[in-house]
Amino acid sequence: MNATAEAMAIPTAVNAVPTTAAMPASIAIDCKLDKVFYGDFLAVRDSHVPIEKGKITGFIGPSGCGKSTVLRCLNRMNDLIKIFRFQGHVHFHGQDVYARNVDPVILRRYIGMVFQQPNPFTMSIFDNVAFGLRLNRFKGNLQEQVEKSLRRAALWDEVKDKLNNSGLSLSGGQQQRLCIARAIATEPSILLMDEPCSALDPVATRRIEELMIELKAKYTIALVTHNMQQAMRVADKTAFFGVDISKGGRTGYLVEMGDTQQIFENPKEDLTKKYIRGEFS
Ligand SMILES: Nc1ncnc2c1ncn2[C@@H]1O[C@H](COP(=O)(O)OP(=O)(O)OP(=O)(O)O)[C@@H](O)[C@H]1O
Ligand SMILES: [Mg+2]
Repeated sequence: MNATAEAMAIPTAVNAVPTTAAMPASIAIDCKLDKVFYGDFLAVRDSHVPIEKGKITGFIGPSGCGKSTVLRCLNRMNDLIKIFRFQGHVHFHGQDVYARNVDPVILRRYIGMVFQQPNPFTMSIFDNVAFGLRLNRFKGNLQEQVEKSLRRAALWDEVKDKLNNSGLSLSGGQQQRLCIARAIATEPSILLMDEPCSALDPVATRRIEELMIELKAKYTIALVTHNMQQAMRVADKTAFFGVDISKGGRTGYLVEMGDTQQIFENPKEDLTKKYIRGEFS
């Protein structure tokens, strides 16, 4: 492990993390995005989105309001987009995620991601789950870690007799659970999920929702969803984003954030009320 890796290895030791009045110990990621640009386009502004430890935070809002952009800022997935830049900060357990000594590949071991479309690699079920472990030169027992991850992702019983079959041979819902197993294999502390159920049928969706609720005992989850019922069912906190068209562009911003029940039953902002009532989408 090089010096960079060591620098980023600190965050998992939650108790050792320095906390400040501005960032209480209950916050896993303090994300404050003043401005996010793609080239000259201002995609998101004025969004302070703290992600609480051990909770599920749902991001909701109309298409194009910046939900995925904000989510991708949390583990530097936007670094892969050349024209991306931002003003603000993202602090993960008190560490600046964008500090020059932070290796994004190491960071993503701590802040894993599950995408909208299940995307198993073209390799066996076992190798899919082992992928990140091998990449990170896992020193423990690989078989045990793969089994543990598949059990946590509620997939083990369905695949234990066919671990050498291709990950692509599984059903859509199973593939998504495989991707979750792959994401949790490296023992991240945070899981980012960008509409993880939108390609799934209702039965597979409920399965993943149940799994999210189980997983939050061990992981902090940030979840982008288009489905307001899903946010109500699983999210503890909800962040509602809107789109500002007043300056001729379409810029996303955080309208309000709070306990899910408050956002859905007693929102502070009119815009939130209208969105929840389905007056626009
Ligand atoms: N790679 C990119 N390059 C340029 N503009 C982008 C890029 N990704 C997103 N955008 C723009 O940034 C804005 C926010 O997009 P984003 O994908 O974050 O929205 P979203 O809320 O996730 O939308 P949806 O609900 O449709 O997934 C949009 O105007 C989008 O066109
Ligand atoms: Mg999106």
